[in-house]
Amino acid sequence: MAPPTPQEHFDGVWMPRRDLFYKLTWLAVGGAVVSAAAAAVRMLFPKVFFEPPMKFRAGVPSDYQPGAVSERWKKEWRVWMVRTEKGLFALSATCTHLGCTPVWLEAENRFQCPCHGSAYTPEGINVEGPAPRPLERFRITLDRSGQIVVDKRRVFRQEWGEWNHPESILRL
Ligand code: FES
Repeated sequence: MAPPTPQEHFDGVWMPRRDLFYKLTWLAVGGAVVSAAAAAVRMLFPKVFFEPPMKFRAGVPSDYQPGAVSERWKKEWRVWMVRTEKGLFALSATCTHLGCTPVWLEAENRFQCPCHGSAYTPEGINVEGPAPRPLERFRITLDRSGQIVVDKRRVFRQEWGEWNHPESILRL
């Protein structure tokens, strides 16, 4: 038998060309099957981004005393519920300077940011420190059962004249 040509070597083992062809074919078919299976598995788990919920029920209007700031939803939702003589609104607890969380100082009747000293009135107007604008308010509505619904996806900004929007405050 003639010595094998270089093309007849595969992994250092001599084999006829036909065997080499079959092995390479099966290797290609196996690779395609594995790729197709991986694609099918990927389709079972689509790339979905789960965002935290932005909407919550906040009780009923009688839960909130006139002239008071409620911190009931601050920890979980970063929202204060404020009831003034104009109505009830959901105020963002995110400082408009660099995003720290202010604290409510009832004795001083204002919100104070611990980071750089910005202060806001109970309505959310910035009155001191580097905060460039008032706090934001979120959409507040009543559902059919009379429950308050706060939707943080809709923001109302005072400097854009949006605090006059009917969904920025519940007139009680
Ligand atoms: S982040 Fe509130 S004053 Fe700077």
